[in-house]
This record gives sequence, C-alpha cells and structure tokens, in this order.
Amino acid sequence: MKVQGILWRSLVGLGFLSAAPLVAPAFSQPAAPAPEAPTGRTAKSAGSATQDMVAAANPLAAQAGREILAAGGSAVDAAVAVQLVLNLVEPQSSGIGGGAFLVFWDGTTMTTLDGREKAPAAATPERFLGPDGKPMKFYDAVVGGRSVGVPGTVRLLETAHRNWGKLPWKDVIEPAARLAENGFAISPRLNGLLTQEKYLQNDPVARAYFYEADGTPKAVGTILRNPAFARTLRTIAEKGADAFYTGEIAQDIVATVTGHATNPGDMTLDDLANYKVEERAALCGPYRSYKICGMGPPSSGQVAVQQIMATLETQDMAALKLGPEAAHWMAEAGRLAFADRALYIADPAFVSVPVKGLTDPGYLKSRAALVDPNRSMGKAQPGDPPFQKTFRWGASEGIEFGTSHISIVDRNGNAVSMTTTIEDGFGARIMTRSGFLLNNELTDFSFTPVEDGKPVANRVEGGKRPRSSMAPTIVLDGNDKLYAVVGSPGGSLIINYVAKALVGLLDWKLDPQVVADLPNFGSRNGPTELEAGTEAEAWKPALEAKGHEVRLIPQTSGIHAIVVTPSGLVGGADSRREGVAIGN
Ligand code: DON
Repeated sequence: MKVQGILWRSLVGLGFLSAAPLVAPAFSQPAAPAPEAPTGRTAKSAGSATQDMVAAANPLAAQAGREILAAGGSAVDAAVAVQLVLNLVEPQSSGIGGGAFLVFWDGTTMTTLDGREKAPAAATPERFLGPDGKPMKFYDAVVGGRSVGVPGTVRLLETAHRNWGKLPWKDVIEPAARLAENGFAISPRLNGLLTQEKYLQNDPVARAYFYEADGTPKAVGTILRNPAFARTLRTIAEKGADAFYTGEIAQDIVATVTGHATNPGDMTLDDLANYKVEERAALCGPYRSYKICGMGPPSSGQVAVQQIMATLETQDMAALKLGPEAAHWMAEAGRLAFADRALYIADPAFVSVPVKGLTDPGYLKSRAALVDPNRSMGKAQPGDPPFQKTFRWGASEGIEFGTSHISIVDRNGNAVSMTTTIEDGFGARIMTRSGFLLNNELTDFSFTPVEDGKPVANRVEGGKRPRSSMAPTIVLDGNDKLYAVVGSPGGSLIINYVAKALVGLLDWKLDPQVVADLPNFGSRNGPTELEAGTEAEAWKPALEAKGHEVRLIPQTSGIHAIVVTPSGLVGGADSRREGVAIGN
C-alpha cells in the first residue's frame, strides 16, 4: 500500500485550513468515557491526536482500535477490531450477525465495500404480507427468522483486511476474542435498552446471556462473558470468513433462523455459502470547494445526501447559521431528496437505479429551484431525472438503536468510514449458540410489493439487498486531500443527520464535537421534524409561519466525526450515545 505524506502538514502548507476555527487541544487525550441513559445526553469535549484517531460508539471499542493503530495497524485493521468489540459491548447495534458499508480512502482512491445483507434465495415479494394480504405489523415481521438477511459483515471485514490490512488477521481479531473471554462491564446504555426491550427475553439463548434468572436485565457493571463468541472469533481468526459462511457456524445460523417457534425464516446453507461482498466505486459529488463521497445503491445514503447538499449549496448556509431559516432549507431539501429516494432507489442488481440522473448537476439545479424561501412545499413529488428510470416503492422505516458508525484515520492518512447495523435494536431478537444476535435487515424492504399497479423497486426478492439509508461519508478538500470522516446511525434519519453534520463542518466550520451535538432537524417528506428537548423546539413558530407542519420527535443520532486540521486530528462523538473519539 502506498504511504501518503502527513496530510495535516500538507494542508497547512497549502494554507487551506488557515481560516477554519477548529480548536485542537494541545495534548492528546480521550474524551472522558461517561455513562449515559439510553435517551440521555452526556457532555463531551472534542478528542484530538497528532497521528491517528478512532471515533466509535463505545470507549472499549474505540480503545481497541486505538491500540491497533498504535501497533502500526492500518485504518482497516483498526476497523476490524472496533467492529468485533462493538459486537460485544454494543450488541444492540451491530455485529457479525448483520451487515455494513465501508468507504475507504487510501490517499488517492476512494473505494466502497458493500457488505449488505441479502434476502434468502427463497424470498418472495409477499414475504411481509399477512394472511389478509395486508402488510404485517412491524414487530410481527421483525421478531424471529423471517426478517433475517444473510449477514455480510464478516466477509466485508475479511475483504477489507485482504485489500488494505497491514497486521495479521489473527491479531486484529484477538482484542475482541480476549474481551469475550475475560468479560466486560455492562454499560448504562445497554442496560437501559435491555430494560425497555420487550421481545429479546423470549429467545432462550439471549435470555440466558442478557438477563438474570428472574427476568431482570443484568445490572450496569455486571461482567458479561461470552465464551461462545470467543470460540467463534478464534475459528474465524484461524480459518477465515469461510468458517462463518460454511460449517458449524453456518449450520447454527440456519438452525436459529429456521427453528424459530412462531416466525421461522427460510435461509439455507447455500444462501450463506453463496454470499458475496460487492466492491463498488464510491459515489462522489461536489459541495462548494469540497468533494463528498459515500455509498451508492443499494444504499440511498449518498444519493440523498448529495441531493440535499446540492439544494443547500444554492444558499449561503454560513450566513444563515443555526436556526429556523437553515431548518427551512434543510427540510425542503430533505423533502425533495426523500421523494426521489422513495421512487427510484433499491438494489442495483435488481432494478436500474438512475444514479446518474439523480445526481446530474442540471437536474439538481432544477430541483433546488422548486424551493420557495418563504413557504414550505408540503409534500414533494419525485422528479423526472434524465437517463434511465425505474419502478415505484412503498415505505417502512425504523429509527431505533440497531446501527453504529465508525470513523478512523491512520498515521498514513488512510481513512475508513463504516456504518454497520443489525437494523432494529437487538435485530431479530434471536441469538445463535455461536454467541451473536441476528439482524432483521429484511424489514428494510418495502412490505408492499405493488403500488398503483406497479412493482415497487424495493420489494422483497430472492438474493436481493434491501435498500439502506446508511451514509458512511468521507470529505476531500479542493486539493483532493482528506478533510473529514463522518457518519451516523438512525434509520432513514441518517440522511438528515449526515447532511446537518456536513453543513456544521463545511459551512459553519464547527468543531466536530459541537457538530455532533447540534440539534437534529429536517424532513423525510412528511412533517418537518425537529429534535424534541433541544433548542430546535423554539423554531416551531417560525417554521409554522412558513407553512411547515412541525413535529417534535426524539432523534438519537450517533454522529462520529474526525476532521483533519493544521494541528492534527480532531474528533467528536455524539453525546446522545456512549462513544468517544480518541487517538495517538
Ligand atoms: O440500513 C438502514 O438504513 C437501516 N437498517 C439502519 C437502521 C438504523 O440506523 C437503526 N439505528 N439506529
């Protein structure tokens, strides 16, 4: 792998960042790992480092990544360690029973890996219709084997490591295997989520692991050991990802999915053995002097973010500042992007997604021109982008706790932006005997296969990847040098969280910690959504005066961002979650 020069020095040399009021503390130290309630906030200060940095959703996971980086590992080496530790300490959000997208920058090339779950070959468009032909209730579909997609994360980690790893595969797996064996203390957030969780206890393996004999969730600070997961990891360390997709672990996955008492799935050993990660060119678009890169379909993340940013670019967002005017533009841009997303985006292996048209500069200008500065457009209609078209689809959206974002920059200036998920909090609420929870990613498909007499683009089909909103993002400056790494969990709200973070970083030039903690706001082409319990609530009257239907809702983002500054790396971890940004 080619080693790039020290990026922040070259950025100083170019004077590019001289005006950015990003404040890097003079010494490198982790932001304090502080406890928090599931929906509470903990004040955090920005992390800083001179050499490398990890921003992730749990201090133990970030620390594992930091140690790998200190040992000379690459950003991808660290990502493997962080992901596997997250599987243990933040099991509600991601792990080897789920899927992920990874964006990698090596100093000259931006590449993405698509480790999205796939529907079993036997899946049909009617999968989530009840006996009455109507869409199933969300949790009737989620809980059990029916919603489980063929997991992609292990193959993704192995592929990334083969391409861009420096340390031995075994070494990057070992921190998680050791932690699984020795145990870790249950965090306040995990305990809080277990306390409000309704379905997980019904799975005997999960019940034995997460709960006391009397059914209460294990208390904060209880040391949780997972020898089964340690064995699984050591097997994968020794034999590679094949040991996950074939053999005993694969048999265990299939048995767990198909053996569910009331809602079994149809995944087979062949489905697992046939799973492939897709390497796809990154989708990049301009924003002022920057280039914003991310994940194309089957994620709607980057297309939608790019569309929103293109509308915002018509305004002087730096002058607008945080407030109702900025929220108006953000919401209207969101409406337009979500209208297109709804109609056009699905797995490109199954439908022809008009990415070129949806991101065409002329088309984006015509969409931005639909925004009235003084009046909300209400419901936006999808546009008519140039080039190819596709079908219609219907909606189903989760916004809960089943995802995590990892941002990493290593000492050579390589960057990883990886959003990873088991979909809903605790996924399908079924745990394998091999020590991990399984995803419910298939409920990201449209439950409705046909709308207005037309097939829905994102309907269920055998071997198809459900459409995602995950938007792992890497920003380059005007000289194609690394500027920022950012992403968030949050279901379809991810798109608005990431767009907001980009405005905060690129227009408002705020410290990434401040950016992560800004109130959330935007629209998914329904009401204009302001984050409850934040200063954004006060914008309601001004937005209503412009005709917005405003809803105040919780918006538990998990923005993890790293910015390259003249004095080093500065990182932020969303105070709504337990994460930290730390480095060397
Ligand atoms: O791929 C997607 O868009 C969703 N499955 C992500 C779910 C999510 O972010 C839930 N969490 N916080």
